[in-house]
Amino acid sequence: MVNSNENDRHPADYAHEPLTTREGWQRFVHHTPEPPALLTADERAGMDDLELELHQALRLDYHSELVVVNTPMVTQVINTGYELMLVNRRQLAGARRGMAVFGPAGTGKTTAVTQLGRAHELRVRRRHPQSGPEIPVVYLTVPPAATPRMLAVEFARFLALPLGARNNLADVVHSVCGVLADAGTSLVIVDEIHNLNLGTRSGAEVSDQLKYFAERIPATFVYAGIDVERIGLFSGTRGRQLASRFTPIPTTGFAYGTKLQRQQWRALIITLESALRLAEHRPGALARLDQYLHLRTAGMIGSLSHLIRAAAMRAIRDGTEKITKSHLAGVALDYAAANQPRATPGIDSAPRGTAATP
Ligand SMILES: Nc1ncnc2c1ncn2[C@@H]1O[C@H](COP(=O)(O)OP(=O)(O)O)[C@@H](O)[C@H]1O
Ligand SMILES: [Mg+2]
Repeated sequence: MVNSNENDRHPADYAHEPLTTREGWQRFVHHTPEPPALLTADERAGMDDLELELHQALRLDYHSELVVVNTPMVTQVINTGYELMLVNRRQLAGARRGMAVFGPAGTGKTTAVTQLGRAHELRVRRRHPQSGPEIPVVYLTVPPAATPRMLAVEFARFLALPLGARNNLADVVHSVCGVLADAGTSLVIVDEIHNLNLGTRSGAEVSDQLKYFAERIPATFVYAGIDVERIGLFSGTRGRQLASRFTPIPTTGFAYGTKLQRQQWRALIITLESALRLAEHRPGALARLDQYLHLRTAGMIGSLSHLIRAAAMRAIRDGTEKITKSHLAGVALDYAAANQPRATPGIDSAPRGTAATP
């Protein structure tokens, strides 16, 4: 592993953060969730205890991630990212364009940018099955209270570069840039960008370090975070230059005002609902609770997804095999959903939608 030196460690090293390593990223890119078989009550009754336990465990596991819904925001991020990569291929370092996906927590930013990365890597592998670039996509998160060295180590960690305690910042940056150029990296996704705090000296230094990477590495840079504008990435002389080359994609919760907005919210619920594997669940039962679900979640996709998945697990464990309102009522939601002021009808106009990704 990269961190041979205790001083290189930061809190994320102790958390389970598989996407920010190459193996974790590869697993994510090539993983397609398999919906488990749906058995009738009779078939379940015919199983012995162990078989039933395995069947339940499989379904609990499946419902813990469910599906990724191709919302219009996901589609927009994938399409914009693709266009930028096409345009950037012929651009000199300083003129490459990037994308910044920003909005409140739980609005699906990480999901959208990782889907972009996955789509890109799969496309590259399809086009060059034999001799393609080794590492087309890098995904990393900005650690809390990061220093420039910690940021460089994040890159190195994804690449599994061996780093000795004596490697200074310049060494690490040099080898990261070299490896990324050799590995043909064309997309770099930097998530949790709000962890940069431009009010602190180290935050400003990390921002500069990031700009340096973006100038040196011949790839398209995509940033995601809660408030990319406020962290100052786009302020100052250098920042303003950067801002003029960044496509902003703001993310919001789903609104429940106009007829169209309600249709879009329902469509999202229907897609999530259709992915459920519960023996007694009638399609449409959740969609009929659309207003209640909006009230509970304030239109946040993260809260909706959690609510439905947790309720499905309750329905599996208690044997009812269908989601009832009391299952939903029993799920405690996160503080943000419970306290979010409801989206004002008619104001939030971002189009939202539906189909699940294949
Ligand atoms: N397009 C989507 N389809 C299905 N579930 C989603 C989608 N976007 C987000 N979610 C759910 O919402 C949760 C939070 O989304 P995430 O992308 O982590 O939001 P953010 O990065 O904005 O905080 C995810 O764990 C996932 O369960
Ligand atoms: Mg996120």
